[in-house]
This record gives sequence, C-alpha cells and structure tokens, in this order.
Amino acid sequence: MTAPLNLRDLEALARERMQPGPFAFYFGGAADEVTLRENEAAFECRRLRPRVLLDVARRRQSVELLGTRVRLPVGVAPTGQHGFAHADAEVATARAAAQAGALFCLATGSTRPMEEVAEASGDAPRWFQLYTQSNRGITEDLVRRAAAAGFGALVVTVDLPVGGRRERADRAGFQLTSPRTGNFARYGDEQFAELTQRSGYGMLTWDDLAWLRGIAPLPLVLKGILTADDARLAVEHGAAAVWVSNHGGRQLDRSPASIDVLEEIVEAVDGRAEVYLDGGVRRGVDVVTALALGARAVFIGRPALYALAWNGADGVAAMLLMLALEVDNAMALLGVTSLDKLTRAHVM
Ligand code: FNR
Repeated sequence: MTAPLNLRDLEALARERMQPGPFAFYFGGAADEVTLRENEAAFECRRLRPRVLLDVARRRQSVELLGTRVRLPVGVAPTGQHGFAHADAEVATARAAAQAGALFCLATGSTRPMEEVAEASGDAPRWFQLYTQSNRGITEDLVRRAAAAGFGALVVTVDLPVGGRRERADRAGFQLTSPRTGNFARYGDEQFAELTQRSGYGMLTWDDLAWLRGIAPLPLVLKGILTADDARLAVEHGAAAVWVSNHGGRQLDRSPASIDVLEEIVEAVDGRAEVYLDGGVRRGVDVVTALALGARAVFIGRPALYALAWNGADGVAAMLLMLALEVDNAMALLGVTSLDKLTRAHVM
C-alpha cells in the first residue's frame, strides 16, 4: 500500500513499520476484545437520513469547546507513549493537530514532557489528561504545570481504578515499564520509587473531585463515563464536560460501545455540561452520527498513533485532513452547512 485513503488504511501501514510488541500495545483491547470490536461495529449499524434540495454550497465545521473555537469537531484523544510510533512523539502529534485545527489532549503518560509539547502547540488549544497519582504532591504539581503551560482543561480519566487485562500485549511479550521520562523526569528518587511501586492510580473517588477542583484553575472534563447515573453525578460534582468513553475497549471488556450509550448520557446531562465521545470513530459518517446524537465533539485514539508511526507529524496531519474531508462530504450529502444543524432526525 502506498498512500492511505482513509483512517482504516493506517492500521496496516503502522503494523508494517512497528515492532510487534508496541503495535500490540497500541492495537489491543481488554480480554476478548468484545468492546474493542463493538465500538466500530455499533457505528456501522447506524443509518443516516439525508435531506435533499438544500443549498449546501458553503459548509463549515468549527465548534466551540469549553469556550474556545476550534476548526474541527474532531480532537486527538490522550494516548500514552507516542515514542513507540515516532522519535518526535507527542511533539509531532501536537504540531500536526495545531496545523489541522484539531484540539490535542496530552496524556499523563506521554513520552515527552508537557512543557515541550505545549511549545510545539504554539497558540493552538490543548488539554491535559490527568491520571491522579498516589502521591498527592505529584498530582498537584502535574496540575500546576499543566495550567502554567497553557493547557485549557483537565481531562480526568475515571475508568482506570486498575488497569484492564490486555492479553494481546502480554502475548506479544510486551511490558510497559515506567521509565523516568516524560512528565515524571523531574521528580526525585523518593517520589519516583513511590510512583513505580504504586498499585492503582491513586484511587480517585467522587469525594476527591472537590479537592481537584480546588487545586485546578481549569475546567474539569470527566473521561470514561458510560451511564446516565454517572453523567448526572459528574454534573453535580461540577464537571464542565462529560466524555463518553470505554477507553477504546481497553478497560472493562463487554462494557457497551460508546455510541450506544451516548443518547442516554446526553439526556441525563440535559445541557448542563458539554458531552464528547471517543471509541471507534474512523469515518466522517461516524463523526456526524455522534454529533447528531448530541456529542459536541469526538476524539480519535488509535488512528493518530498509526498515522504517527506511518509518517510522523505529516502523517497525523494527513489523517486529520482525510477525516475533515469525509465530514465535509457527509455534511453536504446530509443537507447541513454547519454542525449545529445536525439533529436526532438525521440518524436512525
Ligand atoms: C489509550 N487511552 C488512554 N486514555 C487516557 O485517558 N489516558 C491514557 O494514557 C490512554 N492511553 C492509551 C493508550 C493507547 C495505546 C490507546 C489505544 C488508548 C484511551 C484513549 O484516550 C481513547 O479513549 C481511545 O483510544 C478511543 O478509542 P479509539 O479511537 O482508539 O477506538
């Protein structure tokens, strides 16, 4: 294969270029990978209802996310360790997202430290994904650094009290060691010893969110919500946004496909917070489906990593452009000129 035509093509290109272990780490889901497969399959079950004879000559797909205008309704989801894909790691991914007009969300477990990534982003909007650490001092420091480096929101991942059981990576003999790199390079021996010995990720509970809100001058986004009940609690605990996600099928296998629970969550949130979605978004028609069902934006996980492995920053920018062109095409064929014109009636 020479040039990819769509996001699915990127998987094969990355597989050719990467070592089997790291590829299995990127690709894999938990246990039998039921949820991993279903994220994409559930989108394919949806059908779109086009409206015709409308003037769709001029189309724009910008959206406002937590008060900031972004050019695309598609952002890059937080994924750890971009260094397995490319030497420039998150610096390349962030630069590409900035160029394409997509919001970039940096993971706590990045290969490169957040300050370098912020510099590569320039003025472009960026958010920081937080895994709270068992050492509260380190958590507070990460949050302060993110605010100082211009990250505009704190994306608190709530679906990882423990890691999922990911056998594909195990079978490939891959073990994620925690080298003293990225955001943790600066911490002392004692703090680092605690980090590597930790079990779980500091066991965040609803009660801790008030503490987090106290130390963070940033809006909180709760990532990993899959039920209406938790969406309501998120709003009650002051979340500015709810991010519907099953962690790309990497945590609880047989949790539902993200797109299948979106509507109940949008209904529960009832306009009190923004709602985003990730998991299995691979096509422009997936993006418009999620937006028509009430998501304000969607995020892309694996295809960004595959694009980075294929062709560095240019690969990621090309991936985002392919998706933006597909969204544009879907909008014209559905009969909408801006994303706020997508409604429930466009999907069956
Ligand atoms: C992830 N994801 C993730 N999420 C998070 O909040 N913090 C993290 O560090 C990571 N790390 C990570 C690594 C890898 C290799 C993958 C594939 C995923 C989950 C990610 O943000 C997102 O929820 C899913 O990847 C979305 O699904 P798709 O687009 O990969 O199908």
